[in-house]
Amino acid sequence: MPLVTTTEMFKKAYEGGYAIGAFNVNNMEIIQGITEAAKDLNAPLILQVSKGARAYANHTYLIKLVEAALEETDLPIALHLDHGDSFEICKTCIDGGFTSVMYDGSSLPFEENIKICKQVVDYAHAHGVVVEGELGTLAGVEDDVSVDAEDASYTKPSEVEEFVERTGVDSLAIAIGTSHGAYKFKPGQKPQLRFDILEEVTKRLPGFPIVLHGSSSVPQEFVEIVNKYGGKMPDAIGIPEEMLREAAKSAVCKINIDSDLRLAMTASIRKFMAENPDVFDPRGYLKPARQAIKDMVSHKIEHVLGCNGKA
Ligand code: G3H
Ligand code: 13P
Ligand code: ZN
Repeated sequence: MPLVTTTEMFKKAYEGGYAIGAFNVNNMEIIQGITEAAKDLNAPLILQVSKGARAYANHTYLIKLVEAALEETDLPIALHLDHGDSFEICKTCIDGGFTSVMYDGSSLPFEENIKICKQVVDYAHAHGVVVEGELGTLAGVEDDVSVDAEDASYTKPSEVEEFVERTGVDSLAIAIGTSHGAYKFKPGQKPQLRFDILEEVTKRLPGFPIVLHGSSSVPQEFVEIVNKYGGKMPDAIGIPEEMLREAAKSAVCKINIDSDLRLAMTASIRKFMAENPDVFDPRGYLKPARQAIKDMVSHKIEHVLGCNGKA
């Protein structure tokens, strides 16, 4: 099956009360782990590539690896640019075979965000590609840009209709308290999401697909494995899975997860290295690392997103 856009997946997800997982990919083992999990569970999938991933792995390698995954799985898979920060990078990805792009102008003034986002939408739609926009800023680190919690801001529901109408975006990422990375809340702080904002946005945009970034849960047991085998991760707090399950039943059709995959992979490699100090064949530690990605993604599909069996 060729790559698909997210249009059909989001329509079904909205109506079916589940969400599609958007997982970040950077190399072959990550792509294999994610797609093998989705294949076993017959789940639709969004594979997303950041600017950093393109710089690390090279656009062509990533495209070819995703093509291989399509051939192996025969699943509906969308290939998405994560946090495109300019018209140019969005255009390059549209021209280069992506079926979905995010234009992230969330840190720009409203009018500027609309202006560039609309330019991206016009180009994307003329090429059969869909666009995700963003309103509100998340705290955390993405592509080396760090946003302090104090500078993060919730999405203003009063702005969403105008933004969607004037840009023509196909989905909208909103800020309701999630953030990028492993340290989403301060130690002792109770994780909270502004479901009231999500509800208000949904009322204003009935039937319109909403996206949540920064949705890793940072399971404590994985942090403990990292630290047991020589890591030094401070206490990390992610988004509780029950909150994400609740969001997945609502207008939220796409949930972005990257940090939990990084954590699963790193925990596995650290453990393997500590327990097998004589092994120097990379396949020795990359095989269980790929399995750790697969296990994490299977868990998300079945217990958080609810998209198993929906391909
Ligand atoms: O939101 C950002 C994603 O986790 C991608 O991270 O920019 O380090 O590739 P990256
Ligand atoms: P996490 O850092 O919570 O995994 O978020 C990933 C993300 O939003 C990618 O765009
Ligand atoms: Zn993000």
